[in-house]
Amino acid sequence: MKRYRKVVTGGNRGIGLEVCRQLAVQGVTVILTARNEKRGKDAVEYLHHECNLSRVIYHPLDILDGDSVALLAKHIESRYGKLDILVNNAGVGGVVVDQDALRALNIDPDTWLSGKAANLLERVVVQTYDEAVKCLNTNYYGIKWVTEGLLPLLKRSTSGARIVNTTSLRSELKRMPNEKLREELRDANAWDEKRIEAMLDEFLEALKHGRLEEEGWPTMLPAYSMSKMVVNLYTRILARRHREMRINCVHPGFVKTEINWNTGVIPPEEGARGAVKLALLPDDGPTGCYYDQTELGVAW
Ligand SMILES: NC(=O)c1ccc[n+]([C@@H]2O[C@H](COP(=O)([O-])OP(=O)(O)OC[C@H]3O[C@@H](n4cnc5c(N)ncnc54)[C@H](OP(=O)(O)O)[C@@H]3O)[C@@H](O)[C@H]2O)c1
Repeated sequence: MKRYRKVVTGGNRGIGLEVCRQLAVQGVTVILTARNEKRGKDAVEYLHHECNLSRVIYHPLDILDGDSVALLAKHIESRYGKLDILVNNAGVGGVVVDQDALRALNIDPDTWLSGKAANLLERVVVQTYDEAVKCLNTNYYGIKWVTEGLLPLLKRSTSGARIVNTTSLRSELKRMPNEKLREELRDANAWDEKRIEAMLDEFLEALKHGRLEEEGWPTMLPAYSMSKMVVNLYTRILARRHREMRINCVHPGFVKTEINWNTGVIPPEEGARGAVKLALLPDDGPTGCYYDQTELGVAW
């Protein structure tokens, strides 16, 4: 098989760790990145010793820190000269949660996924302004900064690089109450990063002034939903711009990890399969698409 070099962000736990494991099993050289050195190194130790996968190395990466992105790019440049696969996995939920109260509600997975839980969750899952900013920074701007930082190396991949952006069911446009915006978001050709940024600023203003519902923004996990809607848009913009690459986004499923306070229903082994499939697409594979786990889905 070809020798691929690959970066996974947020590789120290949850879905990211499992993506690293499954790709290393396939013989890919994996650069497992994490913002916390101990957590990152412990994850690599686990893959080396418990899973017998020696082709995984740790490199620090805080996706919110430009210097950290630049150091990673420099390291890959000097050691490998290029990069074949980038999996943008790191993400945050962007809300403040009363975990005991949440457990006491005992919400079933169908209610969670349908969005009908919004009223039930009002008091236990709180969307603060600060968490919203952190969420948009991590889930959207972080992906953008890392991708831009590594793009020169991805362009050198001989068979067209693969970029996989982790999105969510919350990104599906049917969940956007504002009809006009919903229709506008369907047409990726009408968007660029500047327009995305302006929309996110408008969203934050509405949140700050308590006008989310009135203006038709999502009210269930508002910042998280917005962050993933723009991840999808950004994926389509990138795919349009870099036609030699295969650039897609994937909803991993409702996976039992810390981001959802372990309320998910499938294990990370299953949740990682979509990202792994998209990371190893053939040269004539799809690009600019949304996958619901391992199948093509409809988000816009
Ligand atoms: N679990 C689900 O049901 C589900 C559903 C839809 C989408 N997703 C998406 O799947 C992705 C992975 O989530 P998960 O379920 O595996 O959650 P998780 O277990 O909470 O993992 C999140 C990972 O992101 C890392 N991270 C957060 N901020 C970072 C930063 N600034 N720099 C570097 N790493 C950072 C975390 O690192 P630390 O350990 O240092 O905090 C952790 O490794 C996320 O994008 C999430 O939105 C998950």
